[in-house]
Amino acid sequence: MLNKDFRYLLPNILAGVTLLAQPLPATAEAPPPVTVTIDEQGRKAISPDLIGVFFEDINYAADGGLYAELVQNRSFEYQATEQLHWTPLTAWESVARDGARGSMKIADAVTVHPNNPHYVVLETEQVGGGFGLANSGFDGIPIQAGEQYDFSLSARQLFTGNHWGGKGVLENPAHLMVRLESKERGLLAEARLEISGRDWQRIGVTITATNTDPAARLVVLSQTKGGVALDEISLFPRRTFKNRPNGLRADLAQAIADLKPKFMRFPGGCLVHGHGLNNMYRWKDSIGPIEQRRGQPNLWGYHQSLGLGYFEYFQFCQDIGAKPVPVVPAGVCCQNADNQGGTGQRALPLDQMPAYIQDVLDLIEWANGPTNSLWGSQRAAAGHPEPFGLQYLGVGNEEHITPAFRERFQMIRDAIHAKHPEIIVIGTTGPFHSGTDYEAGWKIAKELRVAMVDEHYYEKPEWFLNNGERYDHYDRAQSKVYVGEYAAHEPNRANTLRSALAEAAYLTSLERNGDIVQLASYAPLLAKQNRTQWRPDLIYFDNTNLLLTANYYVQQLFGQNQGDVYLSTQITTAATNLTASCVQETRSGDVILKLVNNAATAQPIQINFSTALQIKPEATRTVLTGNPAAVNGFGKPPILAPQTTTFGGGSAFTCDLPAHSLSVIRLKTK
Ligand code: AHR
Repeated sequence: MLNKDFRYLLPNILAGVTLLAQPLPATAEAPPPVTVTIDEQGRKAISPDLIGVFFEDINYAADGGLYAELVQNRSFEYQATEQLHWTPLTAWESVARDGARGSMKIADAVTVHPNNPHYVVLETEQVGGGFGLANSGFDGIPIQAGEQYDFSLSARQLFTGNHWGGKGVLENPAHLMVRLESKERGLLAEARLEISGRDWQRIGVTITATNTDPAARLVVLSQTKGGVALDEISLFPRRTFKNRPNGLRADLAQAIADLKPKFMRFPGGCLVHGHGLNNMYRWKDSIGPIEQRRGQPNLWGYHQSLGLGYFEYFQFCQDIGAKPVPVVPAGVCCQNADNQGGTGQRALPLDQMPAYIQDVLDLIEWANGPTNSLWGSQRAAAGHPEPFGLQYLGVGNEEHITPAFRERFQMIRDAIHAKHPEIIVIGTTGPFHSGTDYEAGWKIAKELRVAMVDEHYYEKPEWFLNNGERYDHYDRAQSKVYVGEYAAHEPNRANTLRSALAEAAYLTSLERNGDIVQLASYAPLLAKQNRTQWRPDLIYFDNTNLLLTANYYVQQLFGQNQGDVYLSTQITTAATNLTASCVQETRSGDVILKLVNNAATAQPIQINFSTALQIKPEATRTVLTGNPAAVNGFGKPPILAPQTTTFGGGSAFTCDLPAHSLSVIRLKTK
């Protein structure tokens, strides 16, 4: 626990090195030095998984975002229940080149799979230069010269020649031309495909772009007189994160990986419990061949294809060294469904609960079971025979704590305990850090001895500065805590340095309380430019660029500098604008000190480590500082980004903490 020691200790000049030549503002008076003492005696084990990420498909984070699919509405399932002007042909238009004539319509008679009920029928009466359809992607399709793209679709022939009057016999295969075109109809890439037979088949071709266009389109042209049915028309860059098929956009995935998250919570958020019972996220809908996945409306007002599904989430976790933390609905839908302001919760009828609970148990078997188990074999068939090592499972998200919720939560939790006592179930304490649902959620947690509960709060920066002692007072014998969603919200919801530093200060308190707070994740993670429902977010992006916010860099500095032992950190001031925490990473032996100065003046600091820690001289210091009102801008070099320097550390030294700064000092031990 942070011990606010008011003794004023004179600066220790032993081996002292002033680290950052940051002159104090001429008008500001330098405050007296403060001493930070790190004591090996007060060491305690803390969660090795503290800093992670929370991925939710909000702000077009999945389709059009992290999921690398370039075709929008690839399965012709957009509908007016998602957006009033949407139809199964949204993002598509028909194309007739050089005298071509034909018709295009949506059909549902013989589907590729019942989960994917609509497809498109092209009837080409006159071939000309090709009759077909074009897709505009998610605000254009970014194409890069020299890169390969994997085009694929499900297709079958309906007839050859004339629609009516034929003998019902297919006379020859149908030919398709696939083109990537720039706005001016300039050709970027081209390939041919053949469709043969009346049965749905998945076919594909790889094409290489000869030119670049950040907003190209995909054109598919029939070159045969007759009718064809097409569905699940897909275009992926070959270069995805770790080159995974059906994979993730490499730069976005790398930005998440660079946070060094110890876990990833997915797939939401409110998305999980959904807008009504029929909209709950069912994990089984998200696995298997993409043409068999059941896309559905996204509670955030668009469509989720579920192409980024449970297999992809688990694989991504493994690729970035993060533990998977899936969240399943607790048998109730979002209380805000139907715009009922917190009273719209509906519960699955009790007679449906056994089947629902079985789905949850099946998820554990799918993730961890042997390859000869029913669901473990499906994981193996998807290409991952080794278990994924599922350890945590969230049940529910921010529920209004009603008797119906409690009953269903307990049923699910008890069933998991009975069959999989090794799984850590994470319950919920409602949407806020206090109040009725928070108290009712904690009451359930205590009564049922829930292993861990999820707390959420979005508050002003001042709240985070003033509540750093929140967990100092939590009962260590009760449920552990996952701070599953938090962010400091400025009145204008901007990603200012001030908001980021408020989060940094709060994170020092989570490290100090890492014996009870086991996991913490900022929210939301991703937001697409011009497609954003919720601000602030950690990373903004368009089809070709990323914007890393000051808040991102704070998460990164804590993520890259996690420890599994907390070292008692005493600071000789009670001012809440100066906070510190010190951890040790057992694996490397490194000792890592984080210091946050939220004051408008630089702060001289004397740092003393107890001799038992045996600190070596070499050290690095990484500083994030700037104007507290500043924000990083899209398409511009970041004005807020950490800078790292090396210096001679040792067990005692002085440094200046710049005004409005986070400093991370990493030291080696002998
Ligand atoms: O992070 C955005 C939303 O905030 C989440 O979906 C929900 O859990 C919370 O209300």
